[in-house]
Formats: sequence, structure tokens, C-alpha cells
Amino acid sequence: MKLSDRIQAMQASPVRKLVPYATKAKKAGKKVYHLNIGQPDIQTPSVFMEAINAYDTEVIKYSFSQGEPILIDAICDYFRRDDIHFEPEDILITNGGSEAITFAAIAICNPGDELLVPEPFYTNYNGFTGEVNVNIVPITTKAEDGFHLPSEKEIEALITPKTKGILFSNPGNPTGTILRSDEMEMIARIAIKHHLFIISDEVYRGMAFDGLEAQSMASIKGIEDHLIITESVSKRYSACGARIGAICSHNKDLMKNILKLGQARLCVATLEQIGAAALYRLPDSYTKEIRDEYQARRDIVFDALQQIPGVLVQKPTGAFYMVVKLPVDDAEKFIIWMLEHFDVNGETIMLSPAEGFYATKGLGKDEARIAYVLNKDDMQKAMKILQAGLLAYNNQ
Ligand SMILES: Cc1ncc(COP(=O)(O)O)c(C=O)c1O
Repeated sequence: MKLSDRIQAMQASPVRKLVPYATKAKKAGKKVYHLNIGQPDIQTPSVFMEAINAYDTEVIKYSFSQGEPILIDAICDYFRRDDIHFEPEDILITNGGSEAITFAAIAICNPGDELLVPEPFYTNYNGFTGEVNVNIVPITTKAEDGFHLPSEKEIEALITPKTKGILFSNPGNPTGTILRSDEMEMIARIAIKHHLFIISDEVYRGMAFDGLEAQSMASIKGIEDHLIITESVSKRYSACGARIGAICSHNKDLMKNILKLGQARLCVATLEQIGAAALYRLPDSYTKEIRDEYQARRDIVFDALQQIPGVLVQKPTGAFYMVVKLPVDDAEKFIIWMLEHFDVNGETIMLSPAEGFYATKGLGKDEARIAYVLNKDDMQKAMKILQAGLLAYNNQ
């Protein structure tokens, strides 16, 4: 029996595919610092469990396909703080940002259609689009430009009759880049001119450093019918396992149709929605605290990387990732070697090879993504291990 072409063409997650090497290293008694995955170590705010514990029900019923009203209202209020106005019917709760992006791709693309995506991009975009036979067309961005977008002309040259939209995360994973307002305006102009949807993945919004702000794409006027925002509690509120996200759009026709996808999977987990509503109501001071913590970690990692000969890195301004060029031919081989053959006093690190974050073959081979999701002490230790590992690897 043969499996579908679709599933066979899908790539294994580059973030997770080296996990067996880490498991083996741990079995051999090594401690592994996981800088490969965006799993923050920050405590999920206690209001999440408090809200769930206070939820009085005898039966855990199906929730509404659109989502729990208490959560939808909390998301509307979250945006209203930035003068962005969504009505409850503009929101649909999803199983994480992942399902939100998948739903958006299904809703706007036919099989074989294309989405423009700045690369390097969050590698699971390949999964969300591949599983519904949508093709990603990369807009290549470069480290030396701080992973900012190329010119309007260069982007427009990639548009074909099959292009249905532009998908990007802002702040960016894996780049940590925050789009400037002129770039956001440019995306809006292109979308209007070429009748494209904009899928603005804002799961890292609020994590912006050095006094910058990652504005929501919804702050740009005139693109209401084009814009789909995907949201999540995973990163901002350190609640990855809650699996709560949302699609937000003023396009009534789109939302009416997306509800059919919601109905087809019945609903999102009821209790986690109750907890997530409390997260969205946390004051701005919470986001500030988180942002300051990640900025401090970013500084530790960036300063340490500057000291390592042959490592090239741009200072990221948001999210909790950075892409680094390593003085090796093949970053994946180096990462595996670190797990299999290297440790400092029984400790080693795991990074993500960056190649899987590019759609263009050959790009990113000597690059890795570092997720600075561990506390400052651990990040400091991890950088020392990386420095010693690179020296040993290149002296073999
Ligand atoms: C840019 C980006 N978008 C979406 C997601 C999906 O997040 P979740 O499904 O946990 O909300 C992630 C997770 O790492 C991400 O980095």
C-alpha cells in the first residue's frame, strides 16, 4: 500500500529531527541545554490555572466552534488597548497559532496556489501549507540586511496568477527581526495592488527590544478585507501546551467560511480557553517584564557570540531567536557532533540547523538558530560550551 504523495513530500521538522541524538546524549548521562526549540522556561502566569480551577462545571462540554465568548471578548480587549477594533464575529479560536495558519491557508488557497513568505521562515509553515498542497514561494532576506525585506519591485516579481497571499511572522522566527513601518506599508500596498491576502503571524507581538514596538499589521488602515492575523498564547504567555490561538480578521466573508473549518473539528479544548482568557487580560506590565527578561538574555547571547572567532550574527530586535553563521561547512553535522562527541563537564548544547528554515536550496547550510529560551545563567553556560565546541570541532 502506498501513502499519499502529499505526506511523503512533507519534511520532518528540523527543530525536532535531531531529538534522537539528544535523547542518546542524555541516556549517556550528559546534560543538554535545549536551544533548539522555542519552549520558554518562564513560568506560565498563575492566573491561567486559577481561572481553570474556578471554572464551575459538572460536565466538560464541547465548546462553541468559534470559541468561548469569554476568550473572544478578552482577545478583542487585548487589541483594543492598541486602538485596534475587532468585534467578536471577527475572531475564531484555534488550536494554537498552528491551526490558525493552516485554516488561513485552506481558506484562501486552492491546491497548487502559492503564498509568498520571507525566508528564513518558521519551518512549520512548510507543514501548514504542504498538508493542504499550497506552495511557498520564498522572498529571500539576508543577514547582512538584518533580514529586512527586499524592494517592492523584487517582491512583485515573484507574484504569479497562483499567488494568493503573503505570510510572515512579525517579530520574526527564526530571525528575531521586527518589520519597520515602511515595510508594513509596502506589504499593504502590494496586497491591495495584486488582490492578495496578508497573513500576519503575530504570536511574538510584545517581544520587541531596544525601545522598538512590534506593531500589529491591523494598525495599518485600508487593508481590513485583506488582513488575517494569527495569534497564540504559546510564546507571549509561556503557555505552549495550552494549544490556544486565534484567527482575527475584519473580512466577514472569510470569517463566515472559516467557521466551517472550526465546525468540522468541533471545538478547541474548553478549559484551556478559560485559562487563556485570563492570560489575555494580564496587564501590559506583564508583557514588559517578559520583554525585559528576553532582552537581557538576547544581550548575553549576542555579546558571547561576538567573542567567538568566525561567528557572524546580527543583533535581533524581537522574539527570542537569532540566526548565526557558524565557522563550519555544515551546521547540522556540527550540531550532531556536539551531541554525540562533545561536552564540558558533562554538559552540551543543542541548536537547530537553519537550513530547514529556508525554501531556497543551499541557503542556511552553515547557519543555526539559537532560541534563547533558558535563564540567563544557563544561556551564559551554553554560550561557553558553544565556543569550546567550535574550537574543538575545527581542531580535529
Ligand atoms: C512564528 C510562529 N508562528 C506560529 C507558531 C505556532 O505556535 P502555536 O501553535 O504553539 O501557537 C510558532 C511556534 O513556534 C512560531 O514560531
